Amino acid sequence: MGHSSASASIYLVSLIILLGILSLETIKLGFCSDDHNVGCIDIERKGLLKLKQGLKDPSRRLSSWVGEDCCKWSGVGCNNITGRVNRLDLGSGDWFDDHAFGGEINSSLLVLKDLDYLNLRMNYFGGVFPSFIGSLEKLKYLDLSGLYFVGVIPPNLGNLSRLLYLDLSLGTFETDLHCLATLSSLKYLHLGGLNLTKATSYWLPTVNMLPSLVELHLPLCGLSILPLTLPSINFTSLLVLDLSGNKFTSTIPPWLFNLTKLEKLDFSVNSLTGKLHDSLGHLKSLRFLNLSYNSFQGSIPKSIGNLRFSYDSHVDLTSNRFEGPLPLWSSNISLLHLRDNLFSGPIPHNIGQVMPNLKYLDISTNSLSGSIPLFLGNLSQLQFILISNNLLSGEIPHFWNNMPSLVCINLSNNSLSGEIPHFWNNMPSLGCIDLSNNSLSGTIPRSLGSLTLLKFLILSSNNFSGEVPSLKNCTYLRILDLGDNKFFGPILAFIGESMLSLKILSLSSNSFTGSIPLKLCGLSALHILDFSHNNLSGNIPHCIGNLSYLKYENTDYYSLGCIGSFKLVSKALQENRVFMACVARRK
Ligand SMILES: *[C@@H]1O[C@H](CO)[C@@H](O)[C@H](O)[C@H]1NC(C)=O
Ligand SMILES: *[C@@H]1O[C@H](CO)[C@@H](O)[C@H](O)[C@H]1NC(C)=O
Ligand SMILES: *[C@@H]1O[C@H](CO)[C@@H](O)[C@H](O)[C@H]1NC(C)=O
Ligand SMILES: *[C@@H]1O[C@H](CO)[C@@H](O)[C@H](O)[C@H]1NC(C)=O
Ligand SMILES: *[C@@H]1O[C@H](CO)[C@@H](O)[C@H](O)[C@H]1NC(C)=O
Ligand SMILES: *[C@@H]1O[C@H](CO)[C@@H](O)[C@H](O)[C@H]1NC(C)=O
Ligand SMILES: *[C@@H]1O[C@H](CO)[C@@H](O)[C@H](O)[C@H]1NC(C)=O
Ligand SMILES: *[C@@H]1O[C@H](CO)[C@@H](O)[C@H](O)[C@H]1NC(C)=O
Ligand SMILES: *[C@@H]1O[C@H](CO)[C@@H](O)[C@H](O)[C@H]1NC(C)=O
Ligand SMILES: *[C@@H]1O[C@H](CO)[C@@H](O)[C@H](O)[C@H]1NC(C)=O
Ligand SMILES: *[C@@H]1O[C@H](CO)[C@@H](O)[C@H](O)[C@H]1NC(C)=O
Ligand SMILES: *[C@@H]1O[C@H](CO)[C@@H](O)[C@H](O)[C@H]1NC(C)=O
Repeated sequence: MGHSSASASIYLVSLIILLGILSLETIKLGFCSDDHNVGCIDIERKGLLKLKQGLKDPSRRLSSWVGEDCCKWSGVGCNNITGRVNRLDLGSGDWFDDHAFGGEINSSLLVLKDLDYLNLRMNYFGGVFPSFIGSLEKLKYLDLSGLYFVGVIPPNLGNLSRLLYLDLSLGTFETDLHCLATLSSLKYLHLGGLNLTKATSYWLPTVNMLPSLVELHLPLCGLSILPLTLPSINFTSLLVLDLSGNKFTSTIPPWLFNLTKLEKLDFSVNSLTGKLHDSLGHLKSLRFLNLSYNSFQGSIPKSIGNLRFSYDSHVDLTSNRFEGPLPLWSSNISLLHLRDNLFSGPIPHNIGQVMPNLKYLDISTNSLSGSIPLFLGNLSQLQFILISNNLLSGEIPHFWNNMPSLVCINLSNNSLSGEIPHFWNNMPSLGCIDLSNNSLSGTIPRSLGSLTLLKFLILSSNNFSGEVPSLKNCTYLRILDLGDNKFFGPILAFIGESMLSLKILSLSSNSFTGSIPLKLCGLSALHILDFSHNNLSGNIPHCIGNLSYLKYENTDYYSLGCIGSFKLVSKALQENRVFMACVARRK
């Protein structure tokens, strides 16, 4: 090949001498082939054109596939010394991507002998899994995720011994894993979403043949057997192990704790049982532990606090049956999800000192009791504090004086009493406050009206009273639920003036008086309007019938607990239009 390009240049030079004239363009071409950029080889160019012929390309992504130098075509890459195509990237973004290709992959691809990178992900390629891909011997990177091939994965895929990266996830074909055991260089393997039920007895011994494996992703594969023993472990280089969404029912196997380099472990959404024990401490590089949605149980040993986690670690134990006192973890944890377990006793007072880097704390739906510790305020980086559905009592401390980053406070469904603390002035990010279902009393502090990004204000089912202060600066409010309290006074017209994103407005079961302000008709996004059980008088403004979302019955009613909807038919409304609102709620 070097020869032919050199002789081409010589030929060109002789042409110049012979004819003495030549267009500028031709000279450029001649110099290009001298200058590292050798252009592409004819047979490879023709192979690519044949491939193009077989593809459906609705958004004309291959419009650049014309002309001589196929190395300049979009998605094609060449070795800059040999000029051979070594890279073909025809991947699409996502399912339902308008730019995705259809049609078929022509075996003309085989002329690309030096191809080491092939990405066809997320296209509408169907038919039988093309076995010629197993002959592209130099492949190092192969992404065939999200394709519609049927049949069995061709066994000769096991010939791709140089493969480092293999993604076959979300495929529709049958997978016989045996052929993967010979891919001894493999570092990354993703088979997520493939039906591996037939491989359930041998998947582990097979992947254990891959000594270089760094990431193993087998989520949602229908696997049900997680062997508790392994004679020896080959894949000790593993950093990422994702076995989420399978059907494992055992305990965590002891061999797992020999994978001491593991950084990310995801066992979420299985039916694993047993306790969490000290051996977890062998995983010294862990930074992501997801055991959510399983049947783990027992109390969490104190030693868990001594586990080394790397900086900015995430722990998710949501929806298990863990019990005992709320565990405190490493100071490096930034996201801690302990929702929906059986933890009981008080929230430890030193939580703020032990885990000062927490950004997300979800301990809702447990059986925590006692009061909310003032020291929670030491969590100065906290953004989410979700404590709903517990048995907490006492007053809400002024714990957020020191929490400028707070985004959401959810203390709903506890037994909190006393008043809402004041001083909401310096919380520019706060978007959600849910204090519903408590025994809180007093008035809404005026400073709450300074939360200009507030989207959810839910104070229902408490003993709040007084008039509602101006919330007209809360222009992003989507849900304002003040139901089931003792508020009084007129319904404030500012609601209709400034809260144009409001979807749910509930003032039910209070002592509001006066008439319904005409301004409410400006709330064009409103889905639910509930003014039931108040002392309102006067007419219902006709224009309320024009609020388009109110006209349709809507599942939100039921999720909100409405047991009936209020039909209003006004003679004055044209076409006798009916609108719905919530009459009463389930208690
Ligand atoms: C050729 O490619 C190599 C690796 O891809 C790169 O490092 C090098 O800079 C390139 N050389 C030229 C002349 O483009
Ligand atoms: C490849 O393309 C050629 C000609 O364009 C066609 O005859 C052949 O059937 C195609 N083969 C496959 C496997 O698509
Ligand atoms: C490729 O794999 C097939 C089936 O596994 C085998 O028969 C064939 O000999 C292999 N070819 C090479 C070149 O290794
Ligand atoms: C997976 O494959 C097995 C056997 O091949 C079959 O019985 C099962 O229905 C498949 N599961 C799904 C979700 O397709
Ligand atoms: C470990 O990997 C090597 C090379 O792939 C293989 O020969 C050996 O059988 C594997 N050991 C186990 C226990 O699977
Ligand atoms: C795990 O490590 C322990 C000690 O570090 C060793 O005794 C044991 O054999 C290892 N287990 C496997 C399956 O390699
Ligand atoms: C843990 O896994 C569940 C289910 O797969 C997922 O919804 C959740 O976001 C994960 N947690 C974290 C912290 O990523
Ligand atoms: C926190 O993470 C850093 C950096 O990853 C590490 O050096 C340190 O030992 C960790 N601390 C704890 C208590 O795990
Ligand atoms: C923790 O919070 C308490 C109460 O607000 C405060 O007195 C103490 O100084 C804080 N400690 C740290 C380290 O911020
Ligand atoms: C309130 O919390 C208790 C447990 O503390 C739970 O049983 C109940 O279902 C929760 N109520 C709602 C409406 O979530
Ligand atoms: C507060 O938590 C409860 C229970 O976990 C949930 O139903 C409610 O939607 C949350 N409120 C907000 C505003 O997210
Ligand atoms: C609302 O914003 C205006 C203008 O920024 C300000 O003067 C007023 O004090 C704010 N009202 C409340 C209740 O924060």
